Amino acid sequence: MSIPDKVKIVEVGPRDGLQNEKQLIPVDVKVELVNRLARAGFVNVEATSFVSPKWVPQMSDAAEVMARIERRPGTIYSVLAPNMRGFDGALAANADEIVIFGAASEAFSQRNINCSIAESIARFEPVAEAAKAAGLRLRGAISVALGCPYQGEVEPAAVVDVARRLQALGCDEFDVADTIGVATPLQVDRVMKAVTEVIDPARVAGHFHDTYGQALANILASLQAGISIFHASVAGLGGCPYAKGATGNVATEDVLYMMHGMGIETGVDLDAVVDIGQWISGHLGRKSASLAGNALATRKAAKAAA
Ligand code: HMG
Ligand code: MG
Repeated sequence: MSIPDKVKIVEVGPRDGLQNEKQLIPVDVKVELVNRLARAGFVNVEATSFVSPKWVPQMSDAAEVMARIERRPGTIYSVLAPNMRGFDGALAANADEIVIFGAASEAFSQRNINCSIAESIARFEPVAEAAKAAGLRLRGAISVALGCPYQGEVEPAAVVDVARRLQALGCDEFDVADTIGVATPLQVDRVMKAVTEVIDPARVAGHFHDTYGQALANILASLQAGISIFHASVAGLGGCPYAKGATGNVATEDVLYMMHGMGIETGVDLDAVVDIGQWISGHLGRKSASLAGNALATRKAAKAAA
């Protein structure tokens, strides 16, 4: 089995994790979450989204969150921007990386960003140009790359087609997203292999929601297909407001536990992330969705009590 000895974990909890929370979360909590995650060693933290507050009210405080977080040297603070309005907000907020987000199915594109795939690419064009002109990193997300809640199956060719269009816009990184967490490993292998025929594997990321409990297996399949960037959300927070029933991203603690257990370097302090996962879950009034996080927290509490 040939797998990388080092991976990049993009922590998406403050954005993908919190965007689906019904109750508005105080800015203080969001700021503390981003700061603690950056301190735990993530080189990339997806901090917030500059999207329409009518569509995602939870992200309406994006400018304030960005203004108040501490900037750790070397950390990339990413934000989502679906249009120029979002880009202007992101630029004013001094974001390091702009994430444009398209979809591999027409139905999901309409529900999530209210336009067709072709229209979304046209809308991303000026965003991409402006991001490059400002010297910012540009990432392109491909939603429902492994299954769509409205259309059902998605052909790998549709994913490759969007990846090519995002490549033409100058994206530095490409997120292959299982928005509703339905994929299984052999399917992931097929899609990752198809995408990496046109995109450098070093620039492709796996973004797995864990709805059906397949995310770690899908990450292993991706590792074997040469992928070395993965998105994860502390405590498994999250879901997409425009994909009903979609639950959180794979829990960061689970991913770190697996990577470290396999001798794969992440640069992230798992112990610190376990504490953050317990803290944010407590704040949200629920148990963490991370199995590894809960097990490690229990072990730690038992040790402290002994
Ligand atoms: P629209 O309604 O077609 O656009 O939405 P519009 O231009 O008519 O704007 C509607 C209103 O929003 C207007 O306000 C605009 O000014 C305002 P009004 O004039 O009615 O008062 N507006 C904005 N405000 C702030 N920032 C902006 C912005 N743009 C417009 N950037 C639009 C189109 C794209 C704006 C909308 O559909 C939208 O914001 N969608 C975002 C949906 C979203 O955030 N989804 C979750 C993130 S994607 C995700 O989770 C998937 C991912 O994790 C990967 C995966 O798992 O698949 C990345
Ligand atoms: Mg997502």
